[in-house]
Amino acid sequence: NQASSRFLGIQPTGVPHLGNYLGALENWVALQNQYPSVLYSIVDLHSITQPQDPDKLRNNILDMAASLLACGINPEKAILFQQSQVSEHAEFCWILGCLTSMPRLRHLPQWKMKSKQKNEGSVGLYIYPVLQAADILLYKSTHVPVGEDQVQHLELAQDLARIFNLHYGELFPEPHALLSSTRKVKSLRDPSSKMSKSDSQPMATISITDSPDDIALKIRRAVTDFTSEVTFDPQARPGVSNLVTIHAAVARLSVEEAVSAAKGLDTGAYKGLVSEAVIQRLAPIREEIQRLKADPAHLEALLALGSRRARELAAPMLDEVRHRVGF
Ligand code: ADP
Ligand code: NA
Repeated sequence: NQASSRFLGIQPTGVPHLGNYLGALENWVALQNQYPSVLYSIVDLHSITQPQDPDKLRNNILDMAASLLACGINPEKAILFQQSQVSEHAEFCWILGCLTSMPRLRHLPQWKMKSKQKNEGSVGLYIYPVLQAADILLYKSTHVPVGEDQVQHLELAQDLARIFNLHYGELFPEPHALLSSTRKVKSLRDPSSKMSKSDSQPMATISITDSPDDIALKIRRAVTDFTSEVTFDPQARPGVSNLVTIHAAVARLSVEEAVSAAKGLDTGAYKGLVSEAVIQRLAPIREEIQRLKADPAHLEALLALGSRRARELAAPMLDEVRHRVGF
């Protein structure tokens, strides 16, 4: 469909972990092969709503760009760009902000969660969902991949499309949620919670750039139980089942196939099989990230090129918006 377009905003939080890769990135990359117009945006404007370190941010942006490219995003098929290099995002955010009431934002998850942690929050954190709406609508996106925690933010984007159209004449399609995969990778140390970059427990999270030795060690230390046979039962046996989920995903097997590959193995031997599969799957990605990171100027040039292409779409759109508003 010519008129359909997809927008993905990805925070530059550094190198992704195995859960990000298997639960999100893998599916995001596939979109570029299914649809003609996909924009992948490293949303760095969203990364400064809380205190931050500029050198770390700069490095995280390049880490994320390298990771996305290594995971398969192809700049010839899709547009990969840096949000802050397309200033139309910020300008459009202002215009949409003027159509947003204060109470509409107060109950959104971003503000409720993060402002409480610090007991106060920046105006940027408060209007963060308006910037997300601007990101999405600026490209007339029709489909937006979102996790459960982002559904309310997408609803705001839908509301703002309607409100803008009502005030200034029909312009924006209503963006639909593309439900992302429900595959969840759990913490290796506490399989009742998900694998997360904010987990401070050592050995709980596998980074996609971990060395083969680190991967093997982390999986060897993964919490399981006292039954040696491998079965898939996430309720009763979350630890072993998490290994089966990981194994199936990295080896591109069904859960049933992964369980039958484990026939005759005890949990210890199965861990060896799972780490081999993870190491094999991540090896080319890790090597490609290292290769790309060795030449930061090349990465920056790729991002600059992508950002110019995004701007070619964003600038005429914002011109139309400005005209409608009366500028
Ligand atoms: P984190 O929880 O590590 O901070 P994010 O919230 O930045 O991860 O999530 C980025 C993307 O990765 C989201 O689409 C999210 O649904 C997905 N994701 C994060 N953790 C996992 C996980 N453990 N298993 C599957 N998908 C995950
Ligand atoms: Na998170």
